[in-house]
Amino acid sequence: MSAEPSPAPVGESEAIRLRPPTTRDGHTMWTLVRDSGVLEANSCYAYMLLCTHFADTCLVAERDGRGVGFVAAYRPPTHPDAVFVWQVGVSAEARGQGLGKRLLHALLRSPGCRDVHFLEATVGSSNVASQRLFRAVARELGVDCAVQRGFSGADFGPLAHEDEELFRIGPIRRNP
Ligand SMILES: CC(C)(COP(=O)(O)OP(=O)(O)OC[C@H]1O[C@@H](n2cnc3c(N)ncnc32)[C@H](O)[C@@H]1OP(=O)(O)O)[C@@H](O)C(=O)NCCC(=O)NCCS
Repeated sequence: MSAEPSPAPVGESEAIRLRPPTTRDGHTMWTLVRDSGVLEANSCYAYMLLCTHFADTCLVAERDGRGVGFVAAYRPPTHPDAVFVWQVGVSAEARGQGLGKRLLHALLRSPGCRDVHFLEATVGSSNVASQRLFRAVARELGVDCAVQRGFSGADFGPLAHEDEELFRIGPIRRNP
């Protein structure tokens, strides 16, 4: 009996489709965040705003019509040559198969990031998976990943919160 062929990695799989969000994906993102066990949940309304006002810098990944990942980002008004990744999340069963990287590369290729030269995100000092994700994307793009001071725990006032370091990836070369 011949062995089953191994399944294609999720990052390459046609079964997972990436697309810009619609308003109703606010709830999809909120659910993925709630279930992530890591990400800080904002209100469903906040994700709905991202999915409408910032839809051109957000993506949803779905398999069989079900959300399995997302990236929520925006162009900071103070330095619009960057795209700031507010949150990126992949459902537990789809992790470790390249989907996080696929989401960030697709974001950078999307029309909303046509003239973006840096990808930024703050990453919790204990979030190894996230640190590895951003470093991997920088490595695959062949650009630097500078780690700078982001938000300190003290910036959160009386709330107990770890430091958030700023990861700045770039400069990303764009085809003319
Ligand atoms: C962080 C997260 C989005 C990564 O998504 P993913 O699809 O599992 O990531 P990928 O498979 O694309 O892997 C990207 C890189 O991170 C590494 N990585 C992924 N998960 C890891 C883990 N748990 N520990 C260590 N490294 C990990 C991979 O090895 C890969 O690096 P490499 O190319 O050098 O081998 C996912 O773990 C997640 O949703 N975590 C909870 C939410 C979160 O922390 N989001 C980020 C903060 S906004």
